[in-house]
Amino acid sequence: MFDFKPDPAQGKAENYRQLHNAADALTQGESDGIANMANVASLLWEFVPDLNWAGFYRMGEGASGKDELVLGPFTGRPACIRIPIGVGVCGAAAKTGETQLVEDVHAFPGHIACDAASQSELVAPIIRDGKVIAVIDLDSPNKGRFTQEDAAGIESLAAMLSDRI
Ligand code: SME
Repeated sequence: MFDFKPDPAQGKAENYRQLHNAADALTQGESDGIANMANVASLLWEFVPDLNWAGFYRMGEGASGKDELVLGPFTGRPACIRIPIGVGVCGAAAKTGETQLVEDVHAFPGHIACDAASQSELVAPIIRDGKVIAVIDLDSPNKGRFTQEDAAGIESLAAMLSDRI
């Protein structure tokens, strides 16, 4: 049994440090990327407050042979399965290789509303050998939920996972 429980009184930096350590412990030495993403999706849900969705989209191939994002392990409500590169917040992160911190999803051109409750979103790319291989996506029902501190915490998780998924 794993019992990772963050202290709600601790600051964000300490919370992300513990999340990173827990994810490191759970994924180290495990070669199955799906299992690792599933456990990290669960940890994100446990450690990051005020979310309505947390999970992964992986780079995959669409019917036309073009790259697209395909839904991976997550927690939250059922979500869109395939997202074209460059479309929505996840597609923008996949296209640019840069974290997308969106304070108000309704103001983001092309935002894909998988859950009407979502108000803000943070998406960080996972990069291996210079290529985006997946993204971590967090949605919140609160506007302006995510800050640069959240972005830094999720980016460090993404860097650790680049050779574990
Ligand atoms: N809102 C995302 C789509 C994925 S869901 O939030 C789970 C986007 O615009 O890319």
